Amino acid sequence: HRHLLGIEPLHPEEITTVLDLADRYVELNQSANKRSDALAGLTQINMFFENSTRTQASFEIAGKRLGADVMNMAMQASSIKKGETLIDTALTLNAMHPDLLVVRHPHSGAVNLLAEKVNCAVLNAGDGRHEHPTQALLDALTIRRAKGRLHRLTVAICGDIAHSRVARSNLILLGKMENRVRLVGPPTLMPSQIKEFGVEVFDDMKAGLEGADVVMMLRLQRERMDGGFIPSEREYYHRYGLDAEKLACAKDDAIVMHPGPMNRGVEIDGTIADDINRSVIQEQVEMGVAVRMAAMDLLARNLSEARTQKGVMV
Ligand code: CP
Repeated sequence: HRHLLGIEPLHPEEITTVLDLADRYVELNQSANKRSDALAGLTQINMFFENSTRTQASFEIAGKRLGADVMNMAMQASSIKKGETLIDTALTLNAMHPDLLVVRHPHSGAVNLLAEKVNCAVLNAGDGRHEHPTQALLDALTIRRAKGRLHRLTVAICGDIAHSRVARSNLILLGKMENRVRLVGPPTLMPSQIKEFGVEVFDDMKAGLEGADVVMMLRLQRERMDGGFIPSEREYYHRYGLDAEKLACAKDDAIVMHPGPMNRGVEIDGTIADDINRSVIQEQVEMGVAVRMAAMDLLARNLSEARTQKGVMV
C-alpha cells in the first residue's frame, strides 16, 4: 500500500505483518538505545487539525526513533487561520518534498482527499468518525500480547459507538481476524448502519459483557455530537460506566481497554482503569509507539520502491 488511510483495505496477513514488525519495535523501545535508521534521510510532517496527546506524541517519538526528520505543523498558527484550504495547505507542504504525512482532521474523508493530492505516503491519524487505523492496530497488538492470540475472542466495545472512529476501525479489524465483536451502549449512541457490520448489539451492559475476553471502553465524544442527544453523566455512568459489578459479568481474566483520553467516573471507574491486573490502558500507549514505527517503516519501504520504479509516485 502507498498510504495507511484505514483498516478497511488491509488483508489479515497485512495486519499480521504490521503487528509482527511492531513486536520487534516493542523490544527496541524497551532497550537502552531505542534507535534505528529505518527512516534516516526521510522527512515526516505531522499535521493535526484536531487535539491529540497520544497519537501526536507517539507519531513524533516513532519518527525520531527511526531517524526521520520530524516536523510538527502548529495548525493553530498556520495559514489555515487566514482562509487557506486543506488542499492548498497540503500542496504547499508537498512542494517541500516530505516523505510521510501524518494527518488528523475533524471531517470524515478529509485525509483520503488529501492523500490524492500529494506525492508521499499519508497516514490517517483519525478523521472524523471514519477511521483511526493505527489505534486499531495498537489495540490489536495489545490484545494479541495479553491473550496470546488475535482470533476467536469475544470483544465488547462499549459506549458512544456512533461518534467513534476507534470503534469503527476496531470492529473492522477484529472482524477480519475472526473475532466475535459485540457493541454495547444506548440505542441513541449506536450508528444507524450498524447491521452492515454483522456484529451483536446490546443496550444492557451486563448482558453485553457476559463471557467477554476483552472489554473496550469509549469516551462520550461530545465534540462530534452536533447538538444531538447528550446523556447526563450520572445516568450514563449508572447504566454504561464500567464498574466492578458490571466487569464481574466478563470472564475472570478479561482485560480492560480504553483508547484515551478517558473521563473517570463517566465511562469508567478510576479504580478499574488503574488496576494493573485488569487494565492494559498503559500498555496500549506503549504499543502505540511501536505500531506507528512499524507502519511508517513499511510505508517507507513501499515509497522507495515506487520512487525507484517510476521516478515519482503515481
Ligand atoms: N487515542 C487517541 O487517539 O488519543 P489522542 O486523541 O490523545 O491522540
